[in-house]
Amino acid sequence: MSKYFTEANSEEAVIARLENCDDPRFKEVMVSAIRHLHAFVKEVEPTVEEWTQAIQFLTATGQICDNKRQEWILASDTLGISMLVDAINHRKPPGSTESTVLGPFHVEGAQELAMGSDICKDGKGEPCVVVGRVLDPDGDPVKDAILDVWQTNGDGFYDVQQPGLQPDLNLRGKFRTGADGRYWLRTVKPVSYPIPTDGPVGKMLEKMGRHAYRPAHIHFIVSAPGFEPVTTHIFLEGDEYIESDAVFGVKDSLVVPFVQKTAAETPEEETLSGPFWRADFDFGLKQES
Ligand code: BEZ
Ligand code: FE
Repeated sequence: MSKYFTEANSEEAVIARLENCDDPRFKEVMVSAIRHLHAFVKEVEPTVEEWTQAIQFLTATGQICDNKRQEWILASDTLGISMLVDAINHRKPPGSTESTVLGPFHVEGAQELAMGSDICKDGKGEPCVVVGRVLDPDGDPVKDAILDVWQTNGDGFYDVQQPGLQPDLNLRGKFRTGADGRYWLRTVKPVSYPIPTDGPVGKMLEKMGRHAYRPAHIHFIVSAPGFEPVTTHIFLEGDEYIESDAVFGVKDSLVVPFVQKTAAETPEEETLSGPFWRADFDFGLKQES
């Protein structure tokens, strides 16, 4: 090998400089990243203008980020990387609820609410009830499981996207199961909505000829002492974007029928006065290893 960098030896020339790296995992990751990046450049053979454009995209993606906007997560999500990392890290046994992307709109500190509370504070959207149980791998109920729930309002925006317009902590709440593992909550029927498109990721999607929509869903993080927490959603069956989620988050097991009910079908404890939608979903938790 030439002692200088050449087109032919490029990756080996760079990798050789890691000989004093004393963190084996970091070294493994960097060597692989260097190999793949050099192979990518050799395959694509970008012009200097194209490479400058790529640097501008990376710069703009970083510059738009702040403590409320995370464009890098959007980039990772829309390129399928978030779901791939999630799949590698959460291989689930049958019976355990599958995970999906967290997304950028989870907020710490939602209030714990009484079972059956309505998380909708702005009255926008169609009334909806979500009902189910949290179960262990034997199918027994899990007590003291916390369901941290969040979703958009009926207009397709999270509270944090509309500060001052929506009440704080609109459509967010935590529910704790009792000995029967059961939960139920009131909300609005979820709607499909576009991920933020006013930044570089939006431009990238447009250039790729892709839409930016996520199918209607409700987010959950379900946790309980002694069990692995699961970050997931339930998706509205029949949504027009169910097979083309902009962030690849949909899994068969998470697609749920939302069934229209009349007030007369209101279960006794669920004091609803008009028609509503009902979704039934049981969460399965895996024991902590
Ligand atoms: C969300 O569902 O909140 C979401 C997920 C990924 C990217 C943008 C939004
Ligand atoms: Fe969402």
